[in-house]
Amino acid sequence: MTRRTFMQSTSVVAAAAAGAAQQQQSRNGKLQIGFIGTGARGQELMQAVLANPNVAITALSDAYSGRMERAVERTAGVAKPIRDYKEILADKTIDGVVIATPDHWHKTMILEAFAAGKDVYCEKPMTYASREGAEIIGAAKKTGRVLQIGSQGMSSALQHKAKEIIQSGKLGQITLVRAAYNRNTASGAWIYPIPPDASPETVNWEAFQGPSPLKRPFSLERFFRWRCYNDYSGGIATDLFVHLCTTIHFLMDATVPSHVMGMGQLYRWKGSREVPDTLNAMLQYPEGFAVNLSSTFNNQSGSEGSFVFLGTKGSLAIGFDKVVFTPERTVEDNRWVVDSWSRTLEDKYYQDPQVRATESPNTWPQEAAEGSITYLAEGQESTVAHMGHYLESIRTRKPYWENGDAGHHAAACAHMVNLSVREKRLVEWDFAKDDIKG
Ligand SMILES: NC(=O)c1ccc[n+]([C@@H]2O[C@H](COP(=O)([O-])OP(=O)(O)OC[C@H]3O[C@@H](n4cnc5c(N)ncnc54)[C@H](O)[C@@H]3O)[C@@H](O)[C@H]2O)c1
Repeated sequence: MTRRTFMQSTSVVAAAAAGAAQQQQSRNGKLQIGFIGTGARGQELMQAVLANPNVAITALSDAYSGRMERAVERTAGVAKPIRDYKEILADKTIDGVVIATPDHWHKTMILEAFAAGKDVYCEKPMTYASREGAEIIGAAKKTGRVLQIGSQGMSSALQHKAKEIIQSGKLGQITLVRAAYNRNTASGAWIYPIPPDASPETVNWEAFQGPSPLKRPFSLERFFRWRCYNDYSGGIATDLFVHLCTTIHFLMDATVPSHVMGMGQLYRWKGSREVPDTLNAMLQYPEGFAVNLSSTFNNQSGSEGSFVFLGTKGSLAIGFDKVVFTPERTVEDNRWVVDSWSRTLEDKYYQDPQVRATESPNTWPQEAAEGSITYLAEGQESTVAHMGHYLESIRTRKPYWENGDAGHHAAACAHMVNLSVREKRLVEWDFAKDDIKG
């Protein structure tokens, strides 16, 4: 089961339906949430809000009328459809907003929401450009508002288990992490179906373009497949690597890489996009480890969001539904080298007690890896849990781990990869400036 099918599973849908019914009964004592952007992800997030107790979605806005209609239905007709999201921000009864618009809108909407006194859950990537990070973090501090970014994987019980294992030292010294996101379908490559009723009458093109510097003529491809275009997205890096980096930072207690190199190519899905369909990156962290990130849209082995943490005492593989620890069997075996010496020296070598202690047929590797341990997924679905943390933060005023700093640094990895691809060079982080060097 993938994350997406889990969000459509009976338990999440049933909990969301119960939440929608509950919000009809009474709004007393409930947090009131507004939604800005109720597209594919926004409507999943609505279900996650409604699966949490004591919360109501009272207003929502989207730039395509069909989605606004469907989103209102999800609240059993309670949420008011609003054409201009600024009216949601002006509504004093609303405690917090969820922003699930395309990436080029995130900074503007977060800053306006803070200024209007709202707490914010914003989808990843937090930024469209690295320089936006400091501005958002500064505004969160100044206004005292809660900001949570939406890479929900780090809220899963599985990733919390993985963190516990890594932090216990069970893997020894971890010097390399490999993480991948591979797909091989048109929808995996963001060529989403366009609703048949989409037209200038149902799609608010001006609202979609918003802060994008270059004003383009009306385009349904751009509107519904915005990840393929540089005006709105950073492609694979900002869409998928951001999830990988958030998890790696969380599990390794790391902040941001000091050096990044990337290479990207568009091999197959030509004519539908400006961004690569194959992306590789190397990241080096001051905490003492390196990361390989890779993604292709031309083969799906390795699947959605898989990780391997490689340590001197063991490795930890993390998938969607399980974590597997495999211990290292490190044995010295110099037979092939010593075999080339004179027979006398070879015999002497194996008479040495120190050599006998470390190199003997008893210690030489066996076929099967022994002692591997599998931990299966349990607990709440990650998006429901992640949203639960945001709602809790509104009440307690204590931000969750994935705050503005975490969101900035995960998105910055993606921006560094893209800059390296574009300029064909090593990109460095300026720790004093908390931004890309140069
Ligand atoms: N955490 C995850 O696993 C995950 C998964 C998918 C998407 N996302 C993120 O969620 C965000 C949305 O992605 P999506 O897949 O839902 O895209 P989408 O195109 O399906 O939805 C975006 C919606 O924003 C609306 N919109 C655009 N401008 C607007 C405006 N000015 N006012 C109101 N609405 C406006 C559009 O009409 C559209 O319906 C992106 O930042 C994406 O990276 C996260």
